[in-house]
Amino acid sequence: MADGTAEEDSGELPASKLGTKEYWDDAYSQELVNFNDTGDVGEVWFGESSLYRIVKWIKSCEKITKSSSFLDVGCGNGILLVNLAEHGYTNLVGVDYSEGAIQLASSIAENKQVNIKYQVCDMLSATESMTLCPEGKFDVCLDKGSYDAISLNPEDVEGCRAKYITNVCSLLASDGLFILCSCNWTKAELLSQFKDKFDFLDDLPAPSFSFGGQSGNTVTTLVLRARST
Ligand SMILES: C[S@@+](CC[C@H](N)C(=O)[O-])C[C@H]1O[C@@H](n2cnc3c(N)ncnc32)[C@H](O)[C@@H]1O
Repeated sequence: MADGTAEEDSGELPASKLGTKEYWDDAYSQELVNFNDTGDVGEVWFGESSLYRIVKWIKSCEKITKSSSFLDVGCGNGILLVNLAEHGYTNLVGVDYSEGAIQLASSIAENKQVNIKYQVCDMLSATESMTLCPEGKFDVCLDKGSYDAISLNPEDVEGCRAKYITNVCSLLASDGLFILCSCNWTKAELLSQFKDKFDFLDDLPAPSFSFGGQSGNTVTTLVLRARST
């Protein structure tokens, strides 16, 4: 998802417009027009195989039930949650800082007649603004591409990543699961970045995918468990 692939000496990714809210607001306002005109739901980030792999893992996890509470952080068009709803999961929440994403996701859910709650929420703000889970804690958090986008923020990217990790952890129940899908960071990098608050549980096999005309990129998908405090 990065514009460039090389990491800078800082260990951070090169800043990109994909790390700005303006970029996503523009993208989703166009995708909303497309959806209203043609029914096209827009980009499925990292391809459908990544999405199905996540759903398959969730279905196979004994700890997760159909009524477990899910939070998709940076849900975009919400297609991952739609898939979970179609597999019988009933307690689904999606948040995104782009109002356009939430409008698009809500329109798609209504069109597909699935029950998903959505809220505009910046994952770098105070998590008290998140009102959709009565207890304020979720059994499972999902992130497909949002930590990647945050890692491309042009300003104070290290602080943004740290705040994001703290906020996701605070929204998870004790021993809650975090399923994290990234195309910008390796497994080793993600484990190092999340190690203070999460333990590694599992990783999902990495498919190869094409992006921007280039193929051979891989997606890293990890299942992390929030450390009990
Ligand atoms: C690569 S897209 C992935 C969207 C969706 N998860 C998917 O798989 O289709 C990254 C998403 O993260 C959202 N995002 C980026 N920074 C965010 C933040 N600070 N708080 C909430 N959402 C954010 C963007 O608006 C965008 O929808």
